[in-house]
Amino acid sequence: MRDGVRDAAGKSSTTIILVGFMGAGKTSVGRALGQRLNWIFEDLDDRIVRREGRTIPEIFRDSGESEFRRIEHEALRDLVCELAGNSRIVALGGGAFAQEKNTALLSALRLPVLFLDAPVEELWERCCLQASQAGIERPLLRRLEEFRKLYDERRRSYTKAVFTIQTSDRSVDEIAAEIVQTLGLEAIPIRIEQGEVE
Ligand code: S3P
Repeated sequence: MRDGVRDAAGKSSTTIILVGFMGAGKTSVGRALGQRLNWIFEDLDDRIVRREGRTIPEIFRDSGESEFRRIEHEALRDLVCELAGNSRIVALGGGAFAQEKNTALLSALRLPVLFLDAPVEELWERCCLQASQAGIERPLLRRLEEFRKLYDERRRSYTKAVFTIQTSDRSVDEIAAEIVQTLGLEAIPIRIEQGEVE
């Protein structure tokens, strides 16, 4: 694919960034893409949790949302410094691409950003289901009216992404296949050296 970054040795590598509201499927689709392509998958929220040694709800509860946004931006800056040399897929948390400094950072690097979208009612239902079935806690999942308002406020930022992929009523695999095709992504062959076990 065209866009990419180069490491110090001039070797090109590719990174794609997945953005979208809570429940858009950024993590599941990112993981599926990683498996399909043998690319590294990274979730920015996981990096934040590792750095902080506390969960996202704990950060919101103990330090507030503005401190979370500061940490999120730092984590993103660190992440982009490590991009060269590997092909990877990065999923951002739902609010990250709505922050001007994050958008500016990614556009300066000319990284392809994909917006995963779905109707807000469907996003709400997915998040509620994940909360009740898998115990996934989201500090900003409160009432449908607030959720909808936040989605409406952020949608303009999300649409700055170069590609929009509709996820409504589609499986993770279908979405991953569309992304591979739309962006012309290529799998990295896994090499198994003689005598080595995969
Ligand atoms: C947030 C979304 C969450 C997480 C944090 C804030 C947001 O990520 O980053 O709770 O502001 O929308 P997901 O989009 O993966 O749920």
